[in-house]
Amino acid sequence: MPDSASAPRRSFLAGIAALGTGALALLAPLWSGIRVALAPLGRAREDAAMVPVAKLAAIPDDGVPRRFRVVKDRVDAWNTHRRLPVGAVYLRRMGDSVEALNVVCPHAGCFVNVAADRSRFVCPCHKSSFDLSGAVNDPASPSPRDMDPLDVEIRGDEVWVRFQNFLPGRAEREPVA
Ligand code: FES
Repeated sequence: MPDSASAPRRSFLAGIAALGTGALALLAPLWSGIRVALAPLGRAREDAAMVPVAKLAAIPDDGVPRRFRVVKDRVDAWNTHRRLPVGAVYLRRMGDSVEALNVVCPHAGCFVNVAADRSRFVCPCHKSSFDLSGAVNDPASPSPRDMDPLDVEIRGDEVWVRFQNFLPGRAEREPVA
């Protein structure tokens, strides 16, 4: 003879089973969504890779910054775009040592120039001023931080830079994803 309490128990267990099946059915699309959402993180890592920028011999050994274009391959979900311009850097050579700065002004994103007397950088937009190492050197400069330095490696006769853009308008350095 059936127990009068077994009917609600069966119904409860059936509900749990249905819930489990529903949760399993959601896992595949959920995982796909997570992978799509995390894809930009993979691109950000790729964006911070070292890229060849110039021949060492192309940079005079006089401590004056020279501007070089940065090109790199970009891979999206469907295509590989070869040698796209992604920005520019100032390279400054002193002997065998080379320093790199992103040319973008940390205030609002204009490209900074080397001053006519080659003693500093100046931004044409709102007159931020930086010394040749990229440090803000005028208290009236609106830039909230120094210019953005980039890692450099000399590989054979080439200068490689870990190219990265950073968000303008903030004191802390935050990479653009
Ligand atoms: S963008 Fe350079 S000072 Fe404003």
